[in-house]
Amino acid sequence: MEMLLPALTAPCETAVRICGRWRLREFAELASTNTFAAQLPAWTAVRATVQTAGRGRTTARRWISDTGGLWLSMVVPCPGARAKWAILPLAAGWAIVAALGELGVTGARLRWPNDILIGRRKLAGILVERHRDDTAVIGVGLNVLNSPEECEESLTGMTARLADLTPGACDLEAVTRRVLHAVHRVHIELLDRGFRRIADELNAGWGKSRRVRVTLTGREHVIEGSFVGVDQQGRLRIHTAREGVAVYDAYAVEQLRELG
Ligand code: BTN
Repeated sequence: MEMLLPALTAPCETAVRICGRWRLREFAELASTNTFAAQLPAWTAVRATVQTAGRGRTTARRWISDTGGLWLSMVVPCPGARAKWAILPLAAGWAIVAALGELGVTGARLRWPNDILIGRRKLAGILVERHRDDTAVIGVGLNVLNSPEECEESLTGMTARLADLTPGACDLEAVTRRVLHAVHRVHIELLDRGFRRIADELNAGWGKSRRVRVTLTGREHVIEGSFVGVDQQGRLRIHTAREGVAVYDAYAVEQLRELG
């Protein structure tokens, strides 16, 4: 009798290397580097040339992950209470902006909590996930030499990529090293000293106060006001004429859109 066995499709691992404190595992193709990294030990990083099911921050959003981009997930240690790590997505965004500065990119900015924009175009996105109590996965998608707009028409005019910003600094290996180094540095600061200095620097760097529309999670409730940075726990601060400054936890916010 013939038995049908499910196809065993182990992902093709192309390299394992040590990069500073990181053990970097590289693959030709993965569904999602974040999913693959979920149960790996702290200070492991996973990079794929292509992701077939890259995930964005909202469940509705898939992340176009064509060849030439940086699709990287980093597992970091998160000891202690979970609540204390609510600031991780912001700190990760801060680290990636720092790495971009070191690569010679000028004008990269964060849109709360951690979209990385050039003007209004998205250069990079970050998805932080907690699958275990003691670690988190920081997933970074950074457009380098890839062409997301050619893969998805609806993205036309909405993305930026390093190839157009710093043509001389598009070597994926070098970009990977910078990102790994910056995330390690910022994470060590979080572990040793907490979020205070990063919050201060973030608040100094948001740029002009912007009108925003904030949609709260699970509610039809929408607030319009001015974005006035984050507090020492990384919570969003919005000023409205009626309420003054109100503070929102990241999990309570479904979407923040900049107006005008
Ligand atoms: C967003 O802005 O919506 C977040 C995008 C995060 C994409 C990265 S690519 C590497 C990692 N693996 C995933 O499936 N997603 C993240």
